Amino acid sequence: MTYAAITGWGKCIPPAKLTNSDLETLLETSDEWIVSRTGMKERRISHVPMSDLAHIACEHALAAAGKSAQEVDLIILGSCTYDEIVPNASSRVQKLLGATHAACMDINTACTSGMYCLTVANAMIKTGVAKNALVIGAEVISRAMDWSNRNVAVLFGDGAGALFLETQEEKTGVVAESLGCFGDDRDILAVRGLGLSGTNRELSPEFEWDFSGQEIFKKAVIGMSKACDDVLEKEQLKNSEIDLVVPHQANLRIIDALGKRLKVDKDKVFINIQRYGNMSSATAIIALVEAVEERKIVPGARVLMPAFGAGLTWCAHLIQWGERTTPIGTSDASLPPCKLTGLQLVEKICAERASS
Ligand code: ACO
Repeated sequence: MTYAAITGWGKCIPPAKLTNSDLETLLETSDEWIVSRTGMKERRISHVPMSDLAHIACEHALAAAGKSAQEVDLIILGSCTYDEIVPNASSRVQKLLGATHAACMDINTACTSGMYCLTVANAMIKTGVAKNALVIGAEVISRAMDWSNRNVAVLFGDGAGALFLETQEEKTGVVAESLGCFGDDRDILAVRGLGLSGTNRELSPEFEWDFSGQEIFKKAVIGMSKACDDVLEKEQLKNSEIDLVVPHQANLRIIDALGKRLKVDKDKVFINIQRYGNMSSATAIIALVEAVEERKIVPGARVLMPAFGAGLTWCAHLIQWGERTTPIGTSDASLPPCKLTGLQLVEKICAERASS
């Protein structure tokens, strides 16, 4: 049996920080409210397009796997904030990397996009369609944010994470997964203005978020718990046999509620929400990358990764990590310097919309 081992990992965190105190200057909110309701302290705002973030994350993932861009068979990019829809964003990542032999596709399932990409890459490698793949979750949610709406503006940030998967005979990589969608509830999280519906109307540069936070909260916990139960049952594992849970980071209270349902100790749950907020499709992959970097993932670890997103899409992946937890190589690829602060970037986005 062929498996798709994760042999490379990388991230691109844009340098400009937007802190809770910065948000206090934009909106009627407070550091105390944001920390107590979400666990978030700061997030990043990108000064470059989404595919640039994706490109740098991939350079690091390839170096960690000891591979060159020319060896890449497939690039799958998950996002909901594409620079353009046509041409697709993964083709730009291919161009920037010089990965001329790679097939390229984009996937959008909102916050779960990176994890759905992982499923597709895993299946394509296992069935022999591709020998290896770069799996990316990347997002510049700041460009689609309604910065006047405190219900959503405090929750999100920008970033990109990438994994390199390659064929292996040993049982490693994604060994079980469960995916689903509560389509009847799709309207409780919608970004109006991010799509072509109503093409006869004058397209507005404004984005309006329909966001029922408490309903999303409940559905997220239900969907992720069900997905976790499914994958544990598929592999006939007890919850206590999981070494680390690396969940989607949308709210610390959602993560805590899920941890309680799963009956896993808090020290077995990886959390980085305080640094980045919710980076949508980039979140889970960056969390996995940082769990490896921080040596929270040991050789042979069993890692459970639940996620949810607009749609409402949900999923969980059970990953059997391989023996190597250190990168083969490193890359010095980085973003161009950013002269603006996170707050200045947000003010620039708002000013550009107002003048268009
Ligand atoms: N600052 C201060 N007050 C605020 C803020 C803010 N940023 N946002 C809301 N409030 C107020 C509300 O107006 C409300 O005031 P009211 O009682 O006078 O009406 C009060 O705080 C409480 O609001 P609640 O909605 O009850 O707050 P709750 O504790 O439920 O937390 C939150 C809200 C953080 C949105 C929570 O429901 C949540 O995390 N939901 C899930 C969010 C999520 O997962 N998003 C990712 C979606 S995935 C994707 O694909 C995009």
